[in-house]
Amino acid sequence: MLRRAILPAVLAILTIVPAWLGTAGAAKELPLPLDRRENADLRRPVAAVLLDQDETVAVANGRSGSISIVSLVEGKVLRETNIAKELGGLASLADGKTLLATDPLRHELLILRRDTNAALQIVARQATSRHPRTVATTADGRWAAIAAQWAHRVDLFDLTSARTIPETGELPRRTIDLPFAPLELLWLPTGRHLLAADTFSARIAVIDAESARVASVRELSGHNIRGMALDATGQNVYIAHQVLDEWATINWQTVHSGTLMSNVASRVAVAQLLEGKGSLDDVAEQVRLSDTGHGGGDPAGLLVKADGSIAACLAGTSEVILVNRFGVLTQRYNAGPRPTQILPLRDGKSLVVNRNGDSLTLIDWTRDVPAATLSLGPQRPLKSADRGELLFYDSRLSHDGWLSCHSCHTDGHTNGLRADTQGDGTNGAPKRILGLGHVAFTDKWAWNGQVQELYDQVRKSLLTSMLSDDVREQDINDLVAFLQTLLPPPPSRPSEAEAADRAAIARGREVFLGHQCQGCHVPPLTYTASDVYDVGLQDENGRRKFNPPSLRGVGHARRLFHDNRAESLEDVFQGHGHPSDTTLSDKELADLVRFLRSL
Ligand code: HEC
Ligand code: HEC
Repeated sequence: MLRRAILPAVLAILTIVPAWLGTAGAAKELPLPLDRRENADLRRPVAAVLLDQDETVAVANGRSGSISIVSLVEGKVLRETNIAKELGGLASLADGKTLLATDPLRHELLILRRDTNAALQIVARQATSRHPRTVATTADGRWAAIAAQWAHRVDLFDLTSARTIPETGELPRRTIDLPFAPLELLWLPTGRHLLAADTFSARIAVIDAESARVASVRELSGHNIRGMALDATGQNVYIAHQVLDEWATINWQTVHSGTLMSNVASRVAVAQLLEGKGSLDDVAEQVRLSDTGHGGGDPAGLLVKADGSIAACLAGTSEVILVNRFGVLTQRYNAGPRPTQILPLRDGKSLVVNRNGDSLTLIDWTRDVPAATLSLGPQRPLKSADRGELLFYDSRLSHDGWLSCHSCHTDGHTNGLRADTQGDGTNGAPKRILGLGHVAFTDKWAWNGQVQELYDQVRKSLLTSMLSDDVREQDINDLVAFLQTLLPPPPSRPSEAEAADRAAIARGREVFLGHQCQGCHVPPLTYTASDVYDVGLQDENGRRKFNPPSLRGVGHARRLFHDNRAESLEDVFQGHGHPSDTTLSDKELADLVRFLRSL
């Protein structure tokens, strides 16, 4: 216990300044100088847009914070410009000269101009809600929508004045609160309705831009939506996601047949999305993106061709596939590592963005192999943690490629579902998938707190959660090195500027300390402990002792406890009297929950 208390404190002071604390409110800077980046860090492209009648593509590199302008005619990078420390997303306006990029660390929308030399300049910066990622514009150029992921918001900028985007001053912005952390965005052909999908579950908010309201929140059974596309008629939306059977025991049969985890595109009529309510399961039609023997893990970017066939990126197996309109998989191509976006070109070919390969793949559907692969530039040699990252997103580590670590531990967090990984050796008692932020410091591991070394947990995950056919020591070490880099999500509600809000958080901290919560949820780093405790909750097999989960980022959790029995943070205390017969006044509860949401 002593070690736990001291180590986190020291680390918190010395090293852990999470990147997301960022530099909000920093003074405006002049555009950074142009740079060819001969010895670049890893780029990790997050979004690309086509320009100049598809002769050029602009690629936003998430990790290096640069934008590459690539000539598809010459097949080479014309120029790479440093824009920010990191980039979250990219979109363009119809003039082909104006680009919009998000800066997730400074919480800004960057408006860029491109001249004929492929040079880019930042002409304006607009403040956004916290942690902006994806940006999507309407075809008529009126709206730019931004998914502010950890703020659980979508920002809408009215660009009607875009031709004269103010170099100083603010564009009109509306902010829409969502019940989840949005990531993928898609404008519907109406030009006023926007779909915003949760990063983790398969919930989709339908937003009406005119009234800046959430018209409805719809849900599919599933998780990890990583692609949404309209078909050529504009009447149907295809949604790429996964489906996990929480009750399936993980064995050869359930993995091999896709019963445990399936990888699909769900088709939903736009009219249904606009008019209906509630679950989408009854109105959605599923197209399978996997074959028995070939699992197609982690489907991502989609493209629906004029003949109704679907081109899909399989980020987990680093492939691109074509499924015809009868649902038959007809073509399969090897792309670069982790393809996440696919763009249609006028000549019928398609361009694929390989996020973990720092490259683009050109697909000519009339040929059997990719027409070309284009590197975004030289990479430094990969370190162990970089290799671990590639493995984390690689479903080929699992039996037949059905699922990766990311399929369950979404982007290092959790998809919020339960899985029967038999972590305690029993089955029939599926446990909530744990988020992996700060996992290096949350020993001991697993809900039953019995795993002493992270190495052993990763080895076990490969063997029992993924039925890996070939577990190599080097891969385990690389995965551990990657896990050591993971941070918890920033708080869903950091403290606000208002004194009243800070006071509520301070009172909540007093409630926390007054009820001895810190005995099992040790501050200040992880808010967990290495021991196991019986807090009166029993699993299906009668086990009662569990390791407390970290409370960092707990405000993002949809459901809580080992079996997701609590519906909200309030329910943990009010409905379940956690940790034992705790009674709190309404005011204490409100303050405690406010405090927990600030972690
Ligand atoms: C099928 C879903 C699934 C997949 C795939 C999966 N995990 Fe997990 N993971 C879980 C569940 C469920 C738990 C909790 C199990 C328990 O303790 O009973 C867990 C627990 C963990 C833990 C312990 C966390 C803690 O704080 O105690 C680590 C570390 C981990 N997984 C890493 C990985 C890695 C690395 C991979 C890929 C090699 C992976 N997992 C693949 C579902 C999954
Ligand atoms: C005796 C140890 C102990 C004490 C004291 C304790 N907890 Fe816990 N806490 C746990 C354990 C163990 C779990 C997991 C239980 C389960 O899921 O079955 C847990 C779960 C939680 C969860 C749900 C987290 C999640 O991700 O599912 C929250 C929130 C929480 N505790 C907050 C608190 C607060 C606030 C207090 C003080 C009022 C408190 N705990 C006191 C041991 C404790």
